[in-house]
Amino acid sequence: MTSKALDRAASLIATIPDFPEPGILFRDISPLLADAAAMRAVVDAVIEPFADAFDVVAGVEARGFLLAGAVAVAAGVGMAPIRKAGKLPRPAASVGYALEYGTAAIEMSDDLPAGTRVLLVDDILATGGTLRAGHELLDELGLVLAGTAVIMELEELGGQAVCGPVHAVFRV
Ligand code: PRP
Ligand code: MG
Repeated sequence: MTSKALDRAASLIATIPDFPEPGILFRDISPLLADAAAMRAVVDAVIEPFADAFDVVAGVEARGFLLAGAVAVAAGVGMAPIRKAGKLPRPAASVGYALEYGTAAIEMSDDLPAGTRVLLVDDILATGGTLRAGHELLDELGLVLAGTAVIMELEELGGQAVCGPVHAVFRV
C-alpha cells in the first residue's frame, strides 16, 4: 500500500461540526468507504500490525461493522458482530459504557470458542469507552484480545489511556 493511497483516504474523511449535538465534531467515513482504493488502503493498514495474529475480527455496531466485514474478508478470517443492547436474540454477555455523547451497552453472542484470538475494530477512537467495553465483553466470553484497531483516533479525547494500545491508521 502506498502512503499516497492512505493520504487520499485521510482526505476523504469528512468533518461535520455540531453533529449529532452542538459542540461535537463528527468524523464521517462514508466518502472513504465509497472509494475502492481508499477503502483497500485502510483495510490493509488496519491488518498490517496484526497479520496472522488473529482468528476472527469483531466489529462494534454500527460503524465498526462497515470496517470489520471488509477486514475479515481481506485477512481470510471470520467476523463477529458486537451489537448494541437489545438486538441479539441470545446475548451471552453485556457491558454498559459512556459515550462522547450519551450512554449505551453492547452485547455479544457466544459463537466463538474460548481462546479465540480476536482483532477488535471500530471506525473512531474518541473517549475510548466503546472499545474498553468491547475489551470487557471479549474478556467475559473467554476470548483473547489480539489487538485493537480504528481508522481514526481523536487524540485530544484521550482514548488511548482508557483502552489502549489502539492501532490508529490516522490520528487527528
Ligand atoms: C461512535 C463511533 C465509535 C464510538 C467512539 O459510535 O462509531 O464506535 O462512537 O466513541 P468513544 O471512543 O468515545 O466510545 P456511536 O455508538 O456513537 O455510533 P454508531 O452506532 O454510528 O457507530
Ligand atoms: Mg460506533
